[in-house]
Amino acid sequence: MNKIIVSPSILSANFANLQSDIKKVDNAGAEWLHVDVMDGHFVPNITIGAPVVRDIRKITDLVLDVHLMIDNPEKYIKDFVDAGADIITIHSEAPCSNIEETIDKIRAYGIKAGISIKPKTPVNEIEYLITKVDLVLIMTVEPGFGGQSFMSECVSKITDLKKMLEKYELSETFIEVDGGINAETARTVIQAGANVLVAGSYIYNSSDIKDSIVKLKQTGF
Ligand code: DX5
Ligand code: ZN
Repeated sequence: MNKIIVSPSILSANFANLQSDIKKVDNAGAEWLHVDVMDGHFVPNITIGAPVVRDIRKITDLVLDVHLMIDNPEKYIKDFVDAGADIITIHSEAPCSNIEETIDKIRAYGIKAGISIKPKTPVNEIEYLITKVDLVLIMTVEPGFGGQSFMSECVSKITDLKKMLEKYELSETFIEVDGGINAETARTVIQAGANVLVAGSYIYNSSDIKDSIVKLKQTGF
């Protein structure tokens, strides 16, 4: 069984207590930290930008997994790299001058690049990028808000992606899943092939954060 990485989404943290909320998931054994950047255009919500990532970078060594839900991500890559992102994921549906070049640009900075697809976008739409990315992020809710219900119709896309990665012999590419992940849905997505689990409300609304992260990790065994 592949190692399962948990990437807690700070969207469900208390932004007035962000440092302590990040320490909680770090102490609980999370490896990555998922940062949701929303611009009010690509999605109907606004969150945070590069200055907040820069301050987070100062207080944690967790892998900063930055999920850009923004139009024209190519304009902001350098800002997020300079802020200390370790992974930058852009959306295949977002207006962008050139997605392929933007992926190349992210990797040229020496960090990992991801491509994300919304629930209605089929996996074959990103096949042309598959050898270029380190990670594919499959959304299992419509992006924009935490706390939504998992869309089970997206599970077959994880299977499709796994097959595509096998076809190209890309065993190192991460399969990340984001939206409505809890101990039960984690089991389903891991069985389908996911190895990185983003979870916001399940972790931060839990009365025992450590237990929730342990449960997500143990689902894979
Ligand atoms: C939604 C974000 C998610 C969100 C997940 O657009 O991309 O990362 O924080 O939240 P939960 O785990 O509550 O569905
Ligand atoms: Zn996200």
